Amino acid sequence: MPYIKFLCVSVCESWPLPDTEPLMHGVVQSPQYPQPYPPNLQEQWDLSVPEGYQIRLTFTHLDIEASAGCYYDALTVLYDTNILGKFCGHENLADGHHPGNQPILSPGNRLTLMFQSDDNNPERHQNVGFSAQYQAIDMDECSAPEPEDGSGPLCSQICFNTLGSYLCSCHHGYELRADQRSCVLSCGGGIFDETEGHLFSPGYPNPPHHAVSCQYIISVESGFTVVLNFTDNFHIESMDTEQGPNCLHHWLQVTTSDREPMKLCGGKSPGLIVTNSNTVRLDYHTDNEGLSKGWSLDYSTYRVKCPLPGNVAKGRVTPILTEYFYRDYIYVRCDQGYKLMMGGQEVEGFSTMCQSSGQWHLPLPECHIIDCGEPEPLLNGGLTFLSGFQYQYRSVVQYHCNEPFYSLLGGITVVFTCEADRKWRSNSDIVVSPTCIPVCGQPTKLISAYQRIIGGSHAPEDTIPWQVLLNIDGGRGGGMVIGDRWIMTAAHNVMNKGNQVSEETVRIYMGLTDVKTQLDSPVYAASVHVHPEYNNPINVDYNHDIALIKLQDPITFNSSIMPICLPAEGATYITGVMGLVSGFGVTETGGRRILTNKMNYVQLPVVEQETCSKSITSLKKTRDNVPSLSNNMFCAGVPEGGQDSCQGDSGGPYALRDNGRFWAAGIVSWGVDCGKQGTYGVYTRVTNYMDWINKTMQEN
Ligand SMILES: *[C@@H]1O[C@H](CO)[C@@H](O)[C@H](O)[C@H]1NC(C)=O
Ligand SMILES: *[C@@H]1O[C@H](CO)[C@@H](O)[C@H](O)[C@H]1NC(C)=O
Ligand SMILES: *[C@@H]1O[C@H](CO)[C@@H](O)[C@H](O)[C@H]1NC(C)=O
Repeated sequence: MPYIKFLCVSVCESWPLPDTEPLMHGVVQSPQYPQPYPPNLQEQWDLSVPEGYQIRLTFTHLDIEASAGCYYDALTVLYDTNILGKFCGHENLADGHHPGNQPILSPGNRLTLMFQSDDNNPERHQNVGFSAQYQAIDMDECSAPEPEDGSGPLCSQICFNTLGSYLCSCHHGYELRADQRSCVLSCGGGIFDETEGHLFSPGYPNPPHHAVSCQYIISVESGFTVVLNFTDNFHIESMDTEQGPNCLHHWLQVTTSDREPMKLCGGKSPGLIVTNSNTVRLDYHTDNEGLSKGWSLDYSTYRVKCPLPGNVAKGRVTPILTEYFYRDYIYVRCDQGYKLMMGGQEVEGFSTMCQSSGQWHLPLPECHIIDCGEPEPLLNGGLTFLSGFQYQYRSVVQYHCNEPFYSLLGGITVVFTCEADRKWRSNSDIVVSPTCIPVCGQPTKLISAYQRIIGGSHAPEDTIPWQVLLNIDGGRGGGMVIGDRWIMTAAHNVMNKGNQVSEETVRIYMGLTDVKTQLDSPVYAASVHVHPEYNNPINVDYNHDIALIKLQDPITFNSSIMPICLPAEGATYITGVMGLVSGFGVTETGGRRILTNKMNYVQLPVVEQETCSKSITSLKKTRDNVPSLSNNMFCAGVPEGGQDSCQGDSGGPYALRDNGRFWAAGIVSWGVDCGKQGTYGVYTRVTNYMDWINKTMQEN
């Protein structure tokens, strides 16, 4: 061996550099070939070809001095330190050792050739040496014997030779490990996303030869549940422990998202497992000890089911099905007159979906009876329930006015029903909204025995509820209520030296029969409207002595305050018919005239216009500045005198009564003296002013 090392040191320098590409073939020849080789030679060739190849060495000629055992001259072929052949002699010589036509194959990709010659007899020596060709040939690694170091075969199962290399592969059911040599049982694992399938442990129904660790994932669309159906032939080794059989070394673990993992082992099939999950993981584990034959299962899936939704009182759940599955919708509608309520809130509509969890997305709503809310209140009226409850659906209410001071416009019964659209609907097409109109001219009490103002009497309470007392700039006058915002009086009450008084100076008292008690609570004027043709700057022309006062606030009528009716169309003044005059004017007690604080009244007849006219004409003869009588005036009184309206009564009412209702026939206007024989009181003829009154009241 040291001999070879020495050789290497002496010749290695001439070898190709290690980083050059190894040759695939070449020729090796003895020195001076085909001339005889020189004596005392020691030469070495280290051949190499690429990894994964062998070298095939073929001699084209070999002629080396023969000796026993090729002792003197020889060509030695080595693979590392193994001598593959030591050659001498030549083809036709029985001596020596000649390689013949058989090529030499190196076990690996290297080959060393050593040539030696001695110093014997060089003159006689005619041997030419050798010439050999070598070439790289692919090595069949697969057929190489198993290494003796116990590292196992090159490939544990199948070996494919390739040019310069080899590949390992595995039998069906096995997989190549990361070392690219050995095989393990394939789990057939992975992800199963079909709606049904078949899984089984490796090698089933035979136990695998190795430990296995396999994972199977069944994962289907959400809203579906996986059901595992194990076949009867089930066997996973279990260990008996103190707590009973235990899946200690071998197991099949079933894992779903929302449950504790379940380890299966033993000899009994688990049968059917409903996982309630759309994703199931199976981990099969065995070790090299023990024996488990394995398992097999069919899995199937079904759509997640939701519980039956149930019923909604006063509502309807649709559609009605025997079973409800994932993604099914239900709707709820309430019966007519009921509304959908969820969590105390009203909702427009309701639908809910069966979720993948098997739960309804929303709980069912409730149907509550609708209500129409409080009906429109009725001014000066109210309402009563005819049927129903709390303004609920189908409740019926009836409006009424505060009798006897108000009555329903149109005088009909007004009934409203709460309808399904939550509106109150009238029983009649005509009545849109009821209105209470004041009852006029019908006091709750009537004067039983009529007396006089001058020569009259105190009016009992509530008998002349339209009478008002005016206090204008300190002067006293009368007036009458004709509407909830309107007072009618004489124009001359609200004129002062040809000018209309300011409305701020007007105080109006109403509702009581005693001035003293009234003075605390005046009502204020919003505006004063004098007839446009009234023109009486020096108190000699009382034509058109009529004015209207609009109140700031409307009056609510009661027994003490009620309006007098305005004249009906075609109302007439019939001579001799008694009218009721009232006021807080001058009265006569024991022959003295005093301003009374009590409301007085007197009953006076209508005087024929001509009679009155004559009376005034005769008065004019004896007195100056007696005003003239016009057709806008009429007279009332008795020829013998003693009964009359007087100063302070101005603007007060002269009321005639038709069909039980008092109407404003006249306004106390003027007179010559009061209650004097042969004179009459003169009143504004109200019927002549209806157009103006209507117009004024409408426009203001
Ligand atoms: C489970 O599988 C068995 C056959 O292995 C079959 O007879 C049975 O009907 C299956 N059960 C269900 C619920 O699918
Ligand atoms: C009538 O109404 C007036 C004004 O609101 C009030 O002062 C008076 O007390 C009422 N009278 C009755 C009898 O209700
Ligand atoms: C005045 O108005 C009332 C009700 O608004 C009506 O009945 C009457 O006919 C009217 N009179 C005139 C003269 O326009």
